[in-house]
Amino acid sequence: MRKKIVAGNWKMNKNYEEALSLISEIINMKDLEINSNMEMVLAPPFPYLKAAVDLSKGYSNVFIAAQNINENISGAYTGEISAEMIQSIGCNYVIIGHSERRLYFHETNEVLRKKVDTALSRVLKIIFCIGESKEERETKDFYAILKLQLEASLFHLTENEFENIVLAYEPVWAIGTGLTASPEQAQEVHSFLRKVIAEKYSESLAESTSILYGGSCNPKNSKTLFSQKDIDGGLIGGASLKSREFLDICKSFS
Ligand code: PGA
Repeated sequence: MRKKIVAGNWKMNKNYEEALSLISEIINMKDLEINSNMEMVLAPPFPYLKAAVDLSKGYSNVFIAAQNINENISGAYTGEISAEMIQSIGCNYVIIGHSERRLYFHETNEVLRKKVDTALSRVLKIIFCIGESKEERETKDFYAILKLQLEASLFHLTENEFENIVLAYEPVWAIGTGLTASPEQAQEVHSFLRKVIAEKYSESLAESTSILYGGSCNPKNSKTLFSQKDIDGGLIGGASLKSREFLDICKSFS
């Protein structure tokens, strides 16, 4: 059975007090409202990670993720945050490959590959994002682009290492735009990604890898998206900033 996961990517939002309230609301209501055994992952900004780890202690199936790490282990990289720092405060996950990092911070497939290795060396699980732009979907073989994103940053991993990867398919044209991939469009891509993993590794790895959908996912569309055969949950941006909306998305599995 594949893990069902809903991850909230808060991006650069909320001050400290707001962050603490949001985490508390989500965590306190989770056990009351959600009876399926889905995993919840919360990815607040760096300054709130330790508080998030402390608040989530003792709650089953709640994990805390960093939104980024530096690809180097340690050293003179002013302003950067390492995998070890994240791991040493109790984070379990890191998001790598988000399209905003690829676009605004010029993170190439090669840099992402290094981040993946660094995260794994510090025993972090990875939510690895891939996705095509609007232009790529309209004019190019976007399946080849998605496949390349996987190959270039992940396919050097052994099968054992790959077990720490959760994939997130996030069409760039759907992120923060209100445009969602239709359940059929998303299912088609998810099933393609599973096939690519099976070809490279094995059927059993492909079958056990959780693949999340991301891009304007909200409580209105999450149920239909998550009911698709190859969609195992979501990576949620905007709707993860409101406890009610985020919990309603989590309840899509119940
Ligand atoms: P969105 O963002 O839900 O606001 O579209 C998703 C993401 O960027 O992970």
